[in-house]
Amino acid sequence: MTDTERNRDRDRRVIELYERVLEIEQRLIPTGLHVFGRVSNSNEIESLLKMVASFERSDIVIEPASGQTAPVKALTDLIAAGLGLPEYAALLKESESSEERLRDRERVESILSEAVAIFVLDRSSQRAVDCLAATAFVPAHESVKVFEVLARIRFELERSDELRSLSRALRGEYIEPGPGADIIQNPNVLPTGRNTHAVNPYTVPSSTAVRKAGPIVASLLERHTAETGRYPETMAMVLWGIDNIKTQGEAVAQALNLMGVRPRRDSLNRATDVDVIPLAELGRPRIDVVMTVSGIFRDLFGATMALLDKAVRTAAALDEPDDANFIRKHVQARMSEDRLSIDDAAARVFSNAAGNYGTNVNFMVLDSQWEDAGELGDLFVTRKCFAYGRGSDAREARALLDRALAQVELTYQNIDSTEVGITDVDHYFEYLGGVSKAVEKRSGSRPRVYLSDSTSPGSKVRTLEETIRLETRTKTLNPKWYEGMLSHGFSGVAEIEHHVTNTFGWSATADAVDKWVYDEVARTFVLDEEMLERLRGMNAHSTRSMIGRLLEASGRGLWAADESMLNKLREAFASLEDQLEGVTV
Ligand code: BEZ
Ligand code: MG
Repeated sequence: MTDTERNRDRDRRVIELYERVLEIEQRLIPTGLHVFGRVSNSNEIESLLKMVASFERSDIVIEPASGQTAPVKALTDLIAAGLGLPEYAALLKESESSEERLRDRERVESILSEAVAIFVLDRSSQRAVDCLAATAFVPAHESVKVFEVLARIRFELERSDELRSLSRALRGEYIEPGPGADIIQNPNVLPTGRNTHAVNPYTVPSSTAVRKAGPIVASLLERHTAETGRYPETMAMVLWGIDNIKTQGEAVAQALNLMGVRPRRDSLNRATDVDVIPLAELGRPRIDVVMTVSGIFRDLFGATMALLDKAVRTAAALDEPDDANFIRKHVQARMSEDRLSIDDAAARVFSNAAGNYGTNVNFMVLDSQWEDAGELGDLFVTRKCFAYGRGSDAREARALLDRALAQVELTYQNIDSTEVGITDVDHYFEYLGGVSKAVEKRSGSRPRVYLSDSTSPGSKVRTLEETIRLETRTKTLNPKWYEGMLSHGFSGVAEIEHHVTNTFGWSATADAVDKWVYDEVARTFVLDEEMLERLRGMNAHSTRSMIGRLLEASGRGLWAADESMLNKLREAFASLEDQLEGVTV
């Protein structure tokens, strides 16, 4: 390597490192549990409004005096345009490899922060509009529309009256209905304290969801091809009900896009059929997608399951070469080699038996009821091996799911909310971890596991390992997060314990947790005596469970802990046992 090359390499690494730190710093995290009836404080409102202002809002249409309607642009794009820079999404991408772009991006973000801070402080938009015009040449008629949206959101956040609604509900009185979603995705969910309703399943996926699916799918496939040199022929995808309500079918739109089709709407705007995207336009092969859907999805989205099944059959019937249509390739192979009927060869939508929910993989992990990790994947298949399609009658099809998973190279789930991440609840590891473990045993190797992040601008796709590191840094080990939780006392300690256990769930199902994660958890919450005293004083049960989980990780060979650290954990565990059993020493 020449000196110039070495310097270039060093600069590239510094930018990469800086990017990671920035990603951690900017991530929106919950800083405590929601207290029913309490409205957000101004810091929380400011962070939220900044995020809302970073997305174009085609869902909220402001009517200017002219009577024309127009979507409200993202403030980040307006600032970038005013400064003569590329769109914000392009800045995000280019800032990964260019120092100049990184500076441009930071300039945009700092102007955004300043303007939103002024707006929140003043409770009016005048100075914020002026500031944007002066620092970034943003036309006032554009920024005014953004602040009108932000003002509406702020007003609704402050007027939420959850307690009054609850008492009205308890008296059997009428509660106004409202949609269920993430505030950033759909600010129309405000005010809270309303009677949440879901979606009309026939409208799913919405045109916004279809539009957003393209860049996410492109990032996912780009990531896989960069790492393996080729497209995945078969992947497995997890689809949840509530997520697809909140996003109007973002994950559904992604599945359709992967297969190279788009929804066709009838005269009532219902997505009841699919149109094929020609290969020339698609520019890549059609990917074979094995879809495992939750029980809630199955109950809510019968029409959508039929649509997904139709997409598979439509793609399988196309007269296209094997290397451009993996769906056709695999369906044909199963029909000729295994003598399967078309219904069996094309079965790709799987869920629980009617009336059943969940994979139970989480319970098996929480209760330590497993010896060999392969059992976790087997349980996933046992629970999810019911094929759905035309009509909604499920049929048990274990051999078909086994066969389909044996070909999977990549597993994937879309993350749509900043409120619930992959270590916040046990459901991500039970589903995405469960299916990944099932693939590992059936295909003979661990699949690549990816998650998208549709909450941040820029269609980010991360590996499971990267996502766990990010969750660990921004939540479990972040004092801002854990002190926020600890301000709730008993339930805060329980939350920390849940995070550690859910992290462990990713070790059990996907062996995806770095050693430093457990090392730092042990140092922060157990080896720090002052912290340990606080935790056990507030909730000795959860503290004991957390330490027990760390010991389990080591005992199962999922964490190569140092012996001296283990001894301290054992000591702390024994002392908590004594405390809980009332033994005094
Ligand atoms: C769902 O929305 O489908 C879902 C919710 C919680 C756990 C698993 C799935
Ligand atoms: Mg639950």
